[in-house]
Amino acid sequence: MTEEIHEVTLDVNGTAHTVAVPGRRLLSDCLRHDLGLTGTHVGCEHGVCGCCTVLLDGRPVRSCLMFAVGAAGHAVTTVEGLADAGGGLGPVQRAFAECHGLQCGFCTPGFLTTVTAFLAENPDPTEAEAVEAISGNLCRCTGYQNIVKAVLRAAELTRAAPDEGAPAPLHAEQGAPRPEPSAGEGAR
Ligand code: FES
Ligand code: FES
Repeated sequence: MTEEIHEVTLDVNGTAHTVAVPGRRLLSDCLRHDLGLTGTHVGCEHGVCGCCTVLLDGRPVRSCLMFAVGAAGHAVTTVEGLADAGGGLGPVQRAFAECHGLQCGFCTPGFLTTVTAFLAENPDPTEAEAVEAISGNLCRCTGYQNIVKAVLRAAELTRAAPDEGAPAPLHAEQGAPRPEPSAGEGAR
């Protein structure tokens, strides 16, 4: 049986992309293979590791747990969308570089998106809150100490330049009642 193809327009990092995808195309696969945004990494593919985390209307979701068609009508922000206005590193990215919060870097896109959303809600976290915020993301390399330092440093940088810390372009409908989340959408 031929799989039905759906044409949907996705708002990714402020740009509208129209893609034709099967209904079961994962958002993570669509971002990487259809849109060429390979900054979103795929590890476990079942919602555990967190490296596929992107922001959906500013909230962290596992892109391996939702279908691309379910992202239509939402603003998707990937790690590529966290750069500053000039295309340089955004504050969370700078903090991770400064604090050596990565080694192989495979997990890093998921940490960066997760931390960006966390700091938007809690701009001045305690160390314990920073630890809790990253508890849904797995890193095989760093031992987490420098990642926690990076979260706290990112908070300082974001507070110093609050406009830089916002996830790039938020959806025009943000603030309006959110549509029902897609099946499988999950923050952790
Ligand atoms: S790839 Fe591991 S949570 Fe999505
Ligand atoms: S830096 Fe290698 S898995 Fe986190």
